This record gives sequence, structure tokens and C-alpha cells, in this order.
Amino acid sequence: MLSIGIYPMAPQSKTLFEQFLAPVFSHLVDRNALVQLRDSIDWEAGVAQFTNPQVVYPNYYKTSNFHGIKNGYLNVDAALTYDPITQYVLPPGETWVRESLIKAIGGEPRRILDLGCGTGTTTLMLKRRFPNAEVIGLDLSPQMLVMADYKAQAAAVDVTFRHGNAMATALPAAAFDVVCATLLFHETPPAVAKTILSEAFRLLTPGGQMLVLDGNQRTLRASDWLSTIFEEPFIRDYGQGNVDAWLGYAGFEQVRTEDVFWLNQLSYGRKPLPVAERVVKSEGEGAESGLPLAQPA
Ligand SMILES: C[S@@+](CC[C@H](N)C(=O)[O-])C[C@H]1O[C@@H](n2cnc3c(N)ncnc32)[C@H](O)[C@@H]1O
Repeated sequence: MLSIGIYPMAPQSKTLFEQFLAPVFSHLVDRNALVQLRDSIDWEAGVAQFTNPQVVYPNYYKTSNFHGIKNGYLNVDAALTYDPITQYVLPPGETWVRESLIKAIGGEPRRILDLGCGTGTTTLMLKRRFPNAEVIGLDLSPQMLVMADYKAQAAAVDVTFRHGNAMATALPAAAFDVVCATLLFHETPPAVAKTILSEAFRLLTPGGQMLVLDGNQRTLRASDWLSTIFEEPFIRDYGQGNVDAWLGYAGFEQVRTEDVFWLNQLSYGRKPLPVAERVVKSEGEGAESGLPLAQPA
């Protein structure tokens, strides 16, 4: 059985999320369509296909209830309900917010990595915008990856999904022109976000671009009620942090963050070029001209 009203209800003391948001979402979501979708996917086979037995789940991931769902993302309900809910929590519109990241990518990247890709919505948009690039989505939840792959196949979009931990991806160094993370860091302890940025730095080619689209930290600090109602376990710590500082700490340069409407922000940084290449570039056309540009190998 699909264990949702949309979200399972706790018998005793209800959290604010369960009291107010879950009932609202329950009305907004077409439960029959979800049941149909659930039944049209072979979850067991999909999870087996995506699960990499080498992957070790970090503690924060196994023990937290994201979005009020028990077992966080390691279950089918989370994967099924993620898209129907997310469309309502990214004002002024989900596509518009996600496009802010896509539009900020400069040049023609050859390889793009989407960390914590979830159900792959941004991953698919990346491939549509850069059809010649190899696009990979990586996530810790096999169930989310099954949903992402289902969407990619239905849309005939050629992307690859991988089970993995964004803190230690086991992917080769300097292999990507663009690495991005959408709505990932508000769900991780800040120490994890910093480790992920260090890993992204390792994965990027010199001159490669890092983009982080997530909750607006200034807004979260100014409006504590947001952290209260969404009940993400690490959202308050995330709001107290500073993605710019984390990017700088990881070694990125040309770091900056801009508001995406009121609730979100887009941060980017660039992996520095080796000094020798900087000298050549500074003598040539377009040297250090604006942000951000994918560099040829
Ligand atoms: C809020 S969802 C965002 C999904 C997607 N990026 C989007 O924009 O809709 C957060 C995702 O991050 C994944 N995640 C959390 N920690 C992770 C980690 N250390 N490595 C890889 N994925 C992680 C979760 O499994 C979940 O799918």
C-alpha cells in the first residue's frame, strides 16, 4: 500500500509539518495517478539494478526523516511523492527556479555531473540544454534513481544515473566541465556540504564551473518559521551557513551568490586555472571575461 495521505501521519504528537503541510499537499496531489505510477514501475528490479553494494550510507542520511518521511529517501514513497510536492515549494515556479542554474552555465560543457540528482528533473533539463554533453546524475537513493531513470526513458533523454555518495563519488578527477547540486545542501549537515564541494573541486577540470541552487540562506535566517514548517533536519544549520564561504574554502574562485526570487539562491564558483594557463589567457582574447566559461581541455 502507498502509505500516504500523502505523508504518513504520526499517531501521537503531530509535528507542524504533519499538522499543516501534509494535509495541504494531500489535497494537491492526485493520489490515483500516484498509485498508477507506482504500479507501472518494477521497483524491486529497478532498485537492484541501481544499487551499488560498495556505497556506504552516511549516518546523517540513514537516520534522518526528510520531508517527514520515515527512512528519508530510501523508500518508494519518497521517490513517488517528490515531484508532485516539489512543484509547489519552488516559487514563483519550479521550472523557472531550475532554469536559473541552467542559464548560468557558460560555454559548451562536454561532461556535466548533477550531484544529489534525486528524480532527475534538473539532470534532464541539463541534457536538453546541452545535447552534446554527457550528463550524469548521482544520488544516494536507488529509489530516487529508479524514478529519475523512468522519467528519462519516458522522455527519451539520454542521461546516465549512478548510485553514489557525493562526498566520495569514486569518479575520476578533472573529468567534468560542470558540476552542480540542486536542493541538496539544505538537506545535509554543513560539514557534509563542505566535503561535497571539495569532491566537486577534485572532479572539475581547471576552469570548470560549480553551481549550487538551494534555499536562500538570507531568507531562512530572516524567516525562521520556514525552517520550522519544512522540518528538514539540517535546514537551520544550512541557513546559518554561507555557501560562498564554503565554495571559497573548497578552493573555488570568482565565487558569488544571487537571489533566485525570494526562497532560493544560486551560487557559483570556478576551479582556478593553473598559473601558466592564466598567463597565456590574460594575453589572449576573452581572458577572464565574465563568468562562468567552460574551458577546453
Ligand atoms: C531535496 S532532494 C533534491 C533532488 C534534486 N537535486 C532536485 O533538485 O529535485 C535531495 C537529494 O539529495 C540526495 N542526497 C542527500 N545526500 C546525498 C549524498 N551525500 N550523496 C548523494 N546524494 C545525496 C537525496 O537522496 C535526495 O535525492
